[in-house]
Amino acid sequence: MARLSERLGDLRASPVRAMLAASQQPEMISFAGGLPDADSFSDLDIPAPPRHLLQYGPSEGEADLRAHMAGELRALGIDTEADRVLILSGSQQGIDLVAKLAIDRGTGLAVESPSYLAALQVFRFFGASFQVLDRTDPAAGWAASPPAVAYVTPTFQNPTGSCWTAAERAGLAAACAAHEVILFEDDPYRDLVYDPCDRRPVCAGADGSWIHQGSFSKTVAPGLRLGFLTASPDLFPHLLALKQAADLHTNRFAQWSVLQILQHPGRAQRMARVVSAYRRKRDLFAEALDRELGGLARWEVPVGGLFFWVRLPASVDVEALHRRALARGVLFTPGDHFLTAPDPSAGGAMRLNFSAAPPDRAAEGLAILGALIREG
Ligand SMILES: Cc1ncc(COP(=O)(O)O)c(C=O)c1O
Repeated sequence: MARLSERLGDLRASPVRAMLAASQQPEMISFAGGLPDADSFSDLDIPAPPRHLLQYGPSEGEADLRAHMAGELRALGIDTEADRVLILSGSQQGIDLVAKLAIDRGTGLAVESPSYLAALQVFRFFGASFQVLDRTDPAAGWAASPPAVAYVTPTFQNPTGSCWTAAERAGLAAACAAHEVILFEDDPYRDLVYDPCDRRPVCAGADGSWIHQGSFSKTVAPGLRLGFLTASPDLFPHLLALKQAADLHTNRFAQWSVLQILQHPGRAQRMARVVSAYRRKRDLFAEALDRELGGLARWEVPVGGLFFWVRLPASVDVEALHRRALARGVLFTPGDHFLTAPDPSAGGAMRLNFSAAPPDRAAEGLAILGALIREG
């Protein structure tokens, strides 16, 4: 019998991987996963990278990409410079590095519930003890037991799509500084904005220890597996050492390709096209939801990001609905996966991604969900 690490006991098989596999079936209407619309990258014109990039490279990332990102982050108000930017193999890697940086078994970690499920999975794996964060009163309970880290996605949260107010952002930054809590802001959806809202990063002007990370998965292409982070000077050297130990460095071809896209003169126009296509999809999805699930469920139309968070009455068995929907060719992510501790009495939820399925197929899928809920 192979002897495996104790940690492995805390690693639950990712429900996302299983669902992504199911969503590959050709006739499946998938609202699961966070897949960008394939049309958003189908016309990307990526030249062949120079051959010298086939050699090993720096763990920090390519110097020109780091310099470019430092400029973009400063424009958002974040106090950084090129030598405090770390290029990641996807922003999922940033979550892994931060967990290694700060989490031992039993370490307190503040998160909203619901929160991004693959982050909860990593934090659980490292033994984090979750404290549920209330964004309207983030420091509640911190005087007695401050967490080591507060992990948040204030701008178009996954799964709820919600966007924090300026006061909530300022409140969290102040609470983290006052209680010496590492502020970890995960920000992959910031550019997918459909209506005016406050998006100033919580880390902009933050005192104390902080980490801000972003991704090219939603704005360029997820298959490139490229993200980035910047951090306060006390944390950055540790994160860099952890990155080096994890994979030496991020794929150099992908870094070069993304830099070409970032520096392309047509970049702003391309992003405007992508955002406007997503806005239209969101609006069509909202109309179909009204038509098919009106009166059966509750949701808010997200101002950005890729998801609707649809709350169901406690009378709906969400796991059973998930199975019945799958049998009818419709896939969604049950809300419990995003919770630190599911509460059966609170009523369930579904996370519905609106970006991947074509609008007519999405409407068909929502009609099936509506019929299944009505059938009970
Ligand atoms: C909140 C959040 N963080 C991080 C990630 C990881 O993204 P990636 O590794 O593709 O950059 C995702 C992906 O959906 C996400 O929703």
